[in-house]
Amino acid sequence: MEKIRVELGERSYDISIGSNILDGIGDNLRSFGLSPTVGIISNPTVFSLYGDRVSGSIKKAGFGLITVIIPDGEEYKDLLWVQHIYDDLLRHRLDRSSALIALGGGVIGDITGFAASTYMRGISYIQVPTTLLAQVDSSVGGKTGVNHKLGKNMIGTFWQPGLVWVDVETLKTLPQRELLAGLAEVIKYGVICDQELFDFLEANRDKMMNLDDDALTHIIKRSCEIKADVVSKDEREAGLRAILNYGHTIGHAIETVTGYTRFLHGEAVAIGMYIEVRLSHILNFIDKDQVSRIKALIDSYGLPSGMPADLDAKNILASMQLDKKAIAGELKFVLPEKIGKVRIHKGVTDRAIRESLESS
Ligand SMILES: NC(=O)c1ccc[n+]([C@@H]2O[C@H](COP(=O)([O-])OP(=O)(O)OC[C@H]3O[C@@H](n4cnc5c(N)ncnc54)[C@H](O)[C@@H]3O)[C@@H](O)[C@H]2O)c1
Ligand SMILES: [Zn+2]
Repeated sequence: MEKIRVELGERSYDISIGSNILDGIGDNLRSFGLSPTVGIISNPTVFSLYGDRVSGSIKKAGFGLITVIIPDGEEYKDLLWVQHIYDDLLRHRLDRSSALIALGGGVIGDITGFAASTYMRGISYIQVPTTLLAQVDSSVGGKTGVNHKLGKNMIGTFWQPGLVWVDVETLKTLPQRELLAGLAEVIKYGVICDQELFDFLEANRDKMMNLDDDALTHIIKRSCEIKADVVSKDEREAGLRAILNYGHTIGHAIETVTGYTRFLHGEAVAIGMYIEVRLSHILNFIDKDQVSRIKALIDSYGLPSGMPADLDAKNILASMQLDKKAIAGELKFVLPEKIGKVRIHKGVTDRAIRESLESS
């Protein structure tokens, strides 16, 4: 089993990564000095696959257990379902020394983290991420939250988990489209700060597509190390943490103009990564051969790279301007200078952005 430490002073925690390790979760809980009852938060899809193993392990370790099942889908990541979680926790008298366990993808991780951060002014929670996106991104770093009808992830907290428990075996049941969307975030880590990870993804495509345990463990470990490092240096995104948004400025705009239904988040980020590296090339920050390599890697994993033909650059730009107003700030771009190195830029002209959108 691989272990990575997220260094955040008294809020430090471990990320454990291994194959077939779900049964070990219960024993690990003992070291947290928790009260007798813990709560698993999951959805029907994931709970029917892995609920018995996780519950069995927790019961075997001597804990009582309550389970809160939320319907499967981003639309249930809202305050109404947080309320349902509070109701069940209170009804079963979970107290300040209880913990929650998030068993599922990013949706379950985000809502569980939010509920844990607010229940009785904050209790522990443990991430057991079961999508690639959650294993390499959302379960690490302590951003929690739910959606509001006026905006995604608008209500949230920073609240670090006590442990992240990653079983790569769970990816064997994940639909391939979801797996590849998560892989877009791994490609992102390669581009922003790890040329070797990028090379590995190029050289091991077949292993990745065949869900080879060692290859998956390697890319998840590297991704978590990178995210852990960035988060320990800049937990609240005062600066450096923003490099994790490579591909996301354009990606978010694409998700918005397509109503969050056409592309999975990672697919929109893949398109965003290609358009943003083109933008970097237009501004003379990066060579053309590096742009081609990034596009080739995205394409080789069957992810979209080009701007969808039916989308209008004008609408994408307008959506980014609205975002900029909403945050009362400047539009920021994370632009690669070569594979493994990026810089954050403000003040990129609309003209350059439009050119990158139109020529891709
Ligand atoms: N907190 C953060 O830092 C952060 C970062 C990135 C994304 N997010 C959030 O993460 C969410 C997206 O997460 P996601 O991509 O994991 O989506 P998701 O949680 O909706 O999971 C995708 C689908 O896969 C299913 N699933 C999960 N694990 C499975 C498994 N092992 N086998 C079969 N099916 C499985 C789920 O039931 C769901 O239908 C968004 O709400 C986003 O805002 C948060
Ligand atoms: Zn993302």
